[in-house]
Amino acid sequence: MLKGKHIVLGITGGIAAYKSVTLLRLLVKAGAEVQVVITPSGKEFITPVTLSALSGKPVICDFFTANTGEWHSHVDIGLWADAMVIAPATASTIGKMANGIADNMLVTTYLSAKAPVFVAPAMDLDMMAHPSTKANIEKLRSYGNHIIEPASGELASHLVGKGRMEEPENIVKVLDRFFDDPADLPLSGKQVLITAGPTYEKIDPVRFIGNYSSGKMGYALARKAADMGADVVLVSGPVSLTIDHPRVRVVRVESACEMLAACVEAFPSSRLSIMCAAVADYALEHVESAKIKREHGEAPVLRLVKNPDIAATLGQMKAPGQILAGFALETDHEMSNAVEKINKKNLDFIVLNSLRDEGAGFRTDTNKITIIEAGGAVHPYELKSKDEVAADIIRFSIDKL
Ligand code: C5P
Repeated sequence: MLKGKHIVLGITGGIAAYKSVTLLRLLVKAGAEVQVVITPSGKEFITPVTLSALSGKPVICDFFTANTGEWHSHVDIGLWADAMVIAPATASTIGKMANGIADNMLVTTYLSAKAPVFVAPAMDLDMMAHPSTKANIEKLRSYGNHIIEPASGELASHLVGKGRMEEPENIVKVLDRFFDDPADLPLSGKQVLITAGPTYEKIDPVRFIGNYSSGKMGYALARKAADMGADVVLVSGPVSLTIDHPRVRVVRVESACEMLAACVEAFPSSRLSIMCAAVADYALEHVESAKIKREHGEAPVLRLVKNPDIAATLGQMKAPGQILAGFALETDHEMSNAVEKINKKNLDFIVLNSLRDEGAGFRTDTNKITIIEAGGAVHPYELKSKDEVAADIIRFSIDKL
């Protein structure tokens, strides 16, 4: 709920500043009180008159107003705010924020803000890809700021390109969720553990064994569980997806062994755990410390060892009241294989998707599932988007808790 919330909207000098007008209008429409703080170069892109007419407050750019001599206290603005949103955030402002270069009112306000800060980067692709920009964004993340980017891996962002500012409607959604009172949501106060993506098993410093899992299904599950009020631990293998939800903590891992360790830690306090990751079945017996050379004469033989079964390990640890679910991606004998997995891993239910169904499985935006319960009950679902499938699975889980 944004109604009555005090939002500082920081606008910097990027072409996406025109979108800030829509963002401001939506925030005001949602009932928020908005104070705009703009950088000097932001004013080159959008006039303060428009912004002040929409927000109903004078726009702050300088430390003091030249004609009246009125002093603007960045500390007071920082204390007034329930949240600060910087949209668009240019590479330059992000760099200043990351490194404490407070040479304008916006960055100064940021440094004294006590409220949560949301940053929507906007710049061209090359600037976004530069290591210094990437490092600065990571710094901001590590300081606890929320970075709002268009969900990568989704069709739209492939078409429009990385670096574009998230749409104002979605920025408002992120804020709205942040201020949501989770107390009356069905999963509030409950921890949910989700695994997602592939695992990479190192061969040498530059090569690995991996698979095509995109992580989309697991990320959709994490988002849905958090929307339902859960505190989510999302243990994610290497994927290009990001998630920004105040109730999702992402633990990034690479190998199956790292994934196991993160899961074993989070599992005891999780009421619901859904194993959605495509874990590599085998790892290298011996990881080479130097890159394997081509001029070896004979082609090398890689010796593999079995990886731990994470779901089965958690199945052994499971206490009464905990729900553990797995996924089964099958190409044949779907039903009997799925039932076998339920038993072997001590699952409460398994989500079966068959590669024989068009639109199901890896790298698609859709999925067609059947949920099979340990007791034998079978629940088939229609082909749906992964977001809708996630909602079905979370709703099903809630009924089981
Ligand atoms: O045995 P299979 O790999 O087909 O089982 C798939 C299910 O088990 C998925 O839920 C997957 O996340 C989980 N799994 C696991 N650890 C493994 C292999 C699979 O958690 N090493």
